[in-house]
Amino acid sequence: MTTLLTTRDIGAIVGAKGLAACLGTLVSYLEDDFSRWAEFDKSARVANHSRDGVIELMPISDASLYSFKYVNGHPKNTRAGLPTVMAFGLLADVDTGRPELLSELTLTTAMRTAATSVMVAKRVARPDSRVMAVIGNGAQSEFQALAFHLLLGIEEVRLYDVDAGATAKLVANLRAVAPALQATVCSSTAEAVRGADIVTTVTADKTNATIITPDMLAPGMHVNGVGGDCPGKTELHADVLRAATVFVEYEPQSRIEGDLQQMPADFAVTEFWRVLAGDAAGRTSPEQITVFDSVGFALEDFSALRLLRDLAGELGLGRSIDLVPDLADPKNLFGALRMPAVTGLPEALRVALAA
Ligand SMILES: NC(=O)c1ccc[n+]([C@@H]2O[C@H](COP(=O)([O-])OP(=O)(O)OC[C@H]3O[C@@H](n4cnc5c(N)ncnc54)[C@H](O)[C@@H]3O)[C@@H](O)[C@H]2O)c1
Repeated sequence: MTTLLTTRDIGAIVGAKGLAACLGTLVSYLEDDFSRWAEFDKSARVANHSRDGVIELMPISDASLYSFKYVNGHPKNTRAGLPTVMAFGLLADVDTGRPELLSELTLTTAMRTAATSVMVAKRVARPDSRVMAVIGNGAQSEFQALAFHLLLGIEEVRLYDVDAGATAKLVANLRAVAPALQATVCSSTAEAVRGADIVTTVTADKTNATIITPDMLAPGMHVNGVGGDCPGKTELHADVLRAATVFVEYEPQSRIEGDLQQMPADFAVTEFWRVLAGDAAGRTSPEQITVFDSVGFALEDFSALRLLRDLAGELGLGRSIDLVPDLADPKNLFGALRMPAVTGLPEALRVALAA
């Protein structure tokens, strides 16, 4: 049997454990998995592009577990009452191929993206960072703001979105759950970025946007670029990347999907796992400008699914489902149909097949 976790189960896990503990534990699961980078069979995700969006499959495995995520990105969806990003995924046993866990990953993607941003910022942002700009105040934004507040000591978020309603929603949600976090509404990206130690861009627009331009940079700033994650969809001006030390998840995928897509093939970047391994430097000076060109890599969902499996087991959450047949005789697949008797072809179908 396979365990099914729905959106409600994820809510129950976060309710039972608390958001800070969930995000903090997720960071440690991510660090564990990024630390054993060489053990994973990795590939860039498979993307099916359409006029208004993209649907992607993100597979990865180590010697014992395999996972994949289905995820979309449709920036116009919110106008039709649907989220921009929706996801689900699966964890399977490598030895047998048996699917162990089928889970919602929409809420989970928001948490794992924020936890990944924190994992990187821990080593790459200035440790005395207290103010973060958040440009793009949609579905991902609370998770980013709260993860940086709860885990990295951000005390003020400076907010801007072209949609004032999105910013009002973010402010209301933050005031309700984290009154100690100061939320300042700004009237432009430039105003929000002024005085920020960390700049998180998490906008959704299927275009080569320049949300952050070089004139907005200040010495020591860390840019956590989350929304530029698809060919033809960027947020950072190329000179922002040129002015910074750039960290990525998995270089072959980031060259296609990240803000990095604007740069020549020999533009230098550092895969973040090297920093964890002590193989490459993180931040080297208080004045250095750093960029995390985040696109979202399958390993992050692998870590998140592992955590969900462990927490659901501990809390007794989830439902057993027969996603694949549960057979007494594995060669008797036909028996799983439990058919009383074979009947003749219905007339309409017989005619259609004969035509
Ligand atoms: N890197 C990752 O791992 C990762 C993970 C999840 C989502 N994402 C990306 O993050 C982005 C945001 O996702 P979401 O679920 O919050 O989407 P969303 O549609 O809920 O919110 C995006 C917000 O960006 C705002 N926006 C668009 N253009 C803007 C501009 N020029 N200036 C300021 N605000 C602007 C929109 O008004 C909207 O409120 C998407 O592009 C998504 O693909 C990346």
